[in-house]
Amino acid sequence: MAEILPASKALEPALALLRAGEVVAIPTETVYGLAGDATDGAAVARIYEAKGRPRFNPLIAHVSDMEMAGRIGRFDPLSLKLAETFWPGPLTLVVPLRADAGIHPLVTAGLDTIALRMPRGFGSRLIAALGAPLAAPSANTSGRISGTTASAVASDLGDRISLVVDDGPTPVGLESTIVKVENGKVRLLRPGGVAAEEIEAAIGQKLERGAKGIEAPGMMLSHYAPNAGMRLAVEDVRPGEALLAFGPDRVRGAANAVATLNLSPAGDLREAATNLFSFMQELDRDGAATIAVEPIPTEGLGEAINDRLARAAAPRGADRE
Ligand code: TXA
Ligand code: MG
Repeated sequence: MAEILPASKALEPALALLRAGEVVAIPTETVYGLAGDATDGAAVARIYEAKGRPRFNPLIAHVSDMEMAGRIGRFDPLSLKLAETFWPGPLTLVVPLRADAGIHPLVTAGLDTIALRMPRGFGSRLIAALGAPLAAPSANTSGRISGTTASAVASDLGDRISLVVDDGPTPVGLESTIVKVENGKVRLLRPGGVAAEEIEAAIGQKLERGAKGIEAPGMMLSHYAPNAGMRLAVEDVRPGEALLAFGPDRVRGAANAVATLNLSPAGDLREAATNLFSFMQELDRDGAATIAVEPIPTEGLGEAINDRLARAAAPRGADRE
């Protein structure tokens, strides 16, 4: 079983494991990540193995500073502006990969671009101490919900990894927003912890939407899959259903729900994002066959919340990550 260590005591043990080519679950501001040295092919292979990923999807490489980022990727002026505005933080930038960056090709699944992110807090200190970028997908078994607490990560992956670093519940609660600059335009590849409107305000232009083919290979529909079925934007709760509520007002039949958790009684989307994965997990553990979800506004972080809910509700295919 994995050891859970508080972040204040975990830097040296985590570093020792990473230097030995092992993987470690670490906190980031978005979700917990399953981290390995991005320059070490065996370590990256262990990430896929521990997650049970059915195929190699490109991973995000996490950096501690702009200098490290610049040694790995080529930053056009717009990507640089985005990095300066939102890093460290929940934004991932896809940029052309430098051939001499030392990144193992398993990280990018052979693409000539790389997804880069500069996290806050423990992750950043760990990367700086290692002196190398960390490849880290969300710390969950393929097809399960991303872990937002150390205990969720330990109960999911604990028999396959030796250390989970605990820094409490992740403040953002869902994954980073992923964008890519193409011909002076910024394309949204995955909505996430930075709202599209914030990015548009920073760059003074609208985001391009609608991913193109391989460019978002990790965007498979069944990515976030609880065991329960999901019914979204419900107008009522049916017998036997659990309810994932939002805001002060309840839908019809709510009193009969077998269990209810409210993402944000006040209707705050940031709070709802923080609670989303852990509340889905909790209702799922209770064993209801179906989780009914109240309508959630689509503006701001609501876009990413609705995106994750749609994935959780999608038919279960082989194409999981
Ligand atoms: O918040 C997050 O982003 C978390 C924390 C741990 O940093 N990480 C995370 O990683 O969500 P993961 O592996 O679950 O998702 C990475 C996404 C995938 O959808 C993948 O397809 C996409 O990034 N991606 C990676 N490299 C890419 C590339 N070169 N071009 C396009 N998409 C890429
Ligand atoms: Mg994931």
